[in-house]
Amino acid sequence: MEKLDGKKIKICVFISGRGTNLKSLINFSKQKKNKIEITLVISNKRNAKGLYFAKKNNIKFTIVNYKNKKNAETRILKILNQNHIELICLAGFMKILSKRIIKKYKNKILNIHPSLLPRYKGLNTHKRVIENKEAFTGCTVHLVNSKLDSGKIIIQKKIKVLKKDNVKSLSKRLLKVENQIYPKALKKFISTSL
Ligand code: GAR
Repeated sequence: MEKLDGKKIKICVFISGRGTNLKSLINFSKQKKNKIEITLVISNKRNAKGLYFAKKNNIKFTIVNYKNKKNAETRILKILNQNHIELICLAGFMKILSKRIIKKYKNKILNIHPSLLPRYKGLNTHKRVIENKEAFTGCTVHLVNSKLDSGKIIIQKKIKVLKKDNVKSLSKRLLKVENQIYPKALKKFISTSL
């Protein structure tokens, strides 16, 4: 997708909550010579704190009501199409996309997950890591395919689990690493896979 006309790749970021990964992707998009622009944010939660970063940066955002998943996804596909979105970044989006969207955006959806995939797929990763007394954990940016947290890994970063760690301290420390690797993974993906 390297663009000869100098136009940037249009990205939509999906969120459900706090939005620190959205913030770090926005900051990355503002750097000189980058090849992306975040033109849309989709949230399934009206009160997602992360929407603040969209507002602050004048990025268009849409709330999609997920009461009926099929209707929600029909709406999402329509909005993505209307906004000429070329790449999707899931950033704490706590809904599972169905095959319909994944097929339409095949190899064009990235996700960040708070574990060293393929280990600890799904929810409550930090709790399970601590309960299992793991020495290490980490985070992974990967492509989304139709199996949960199973697509091709783009970047992964490992951190130590400290003896004194609880879910809060571990997730806080790992989140900083997530915020660092997501832009790096996006850059790597764009330069190697598009
Ligand atoms: C992040 O820790 C991200 O890895 C996780 O949600 C958090 C969102 O934080 N995602 C998942 O668990 C997806 N399965 P943020 O809203 O501050 O970016």
